[in-house]
Amino acid sequence: MDVERLQKILARRGVASRRKAEEYITAGRVAVNGEIVRELGTRVDPDKDVITVDGKTIAKARMVYLAFHKPLYCITSKTDPQGRPTIMDFLPPAYQNLHPVGRLDWNTEGLLLLTNDGELTFKITHPSHEIKKTYLVWTEPGVGKKELEKLAGGIKLEDGETSPGRARLIEPGLIELTIHEGRNRQVRRMMGALNLPVKRLKRISMGPIELKDLPAGKFRKLTPKEIEKLKKGPGS
Ligand code: URA
Repeated sequence: MDVERLQKILARRGVASRRKAEEYITAGRVAVNGEIVRELGTRVDPDKDVITVDGKTIAKARMVYLAFHKPLYCITSKTDPQGRPTIMDFLPPAYQNLHPVGRLDWNTEGLLLLTNDGELTFKITHPSHEIKKTYLVWTEPGVGKKELEKLAGGIKLEDGETSPGRARLIEPGLIELTIHEGRNRQVRRMMGALNLPVKRLKRISMGPIELKDLPAGKFRKLTPKEIEKLKKGPGS
């Protein structure tokens, strides 16, 4: 990893907000490799340098990346004031600090990524470089070429036209749809605009990560190769 500003590393490792971390530094409470550092913006190698605050070593934040098969009927949220089941109910205590990357509706199943890597979450979900997401959409058997072309070409929604994607028929009434945006209820609204019902909706991939045969309610760690591909960015 490259060198980074000391206050940024302290904030990322959960010591304090970046602002507070700056106060710690100027107060002489922070040392790098045993030397007190008072200068803001001091550059540090987070992989090699040993950082202490008040003499205590600051542990490296272990980044965790999970692929989770969100089951039906739970919300993509850390907590729910209404007491409904959430995705966190399916994760062990050690992973309760992770955050979902984007969201799936209550009645959508399929692949959801979870991580504590805020930078990657930002990168994946930012509208300027949203990664492609592929869904299986079960609808009525009569759906044909005309509708597929419209789904792939772009559909006018109340928040603007959808950007081009891909749509193909897998079997009568089952569409595989790939989109690049992540607007709220986007697939359901696209189908609604064509008067097509959504009988079932399942996300099967996000960028380079595929759901494959991971059972509903289960998670797996991403492989180093998958993480590397995700970090490389869109189109992967
Ligand atoms: N599009 C939707 O309409 N719902 C989802 O959960 C995901 C994509």
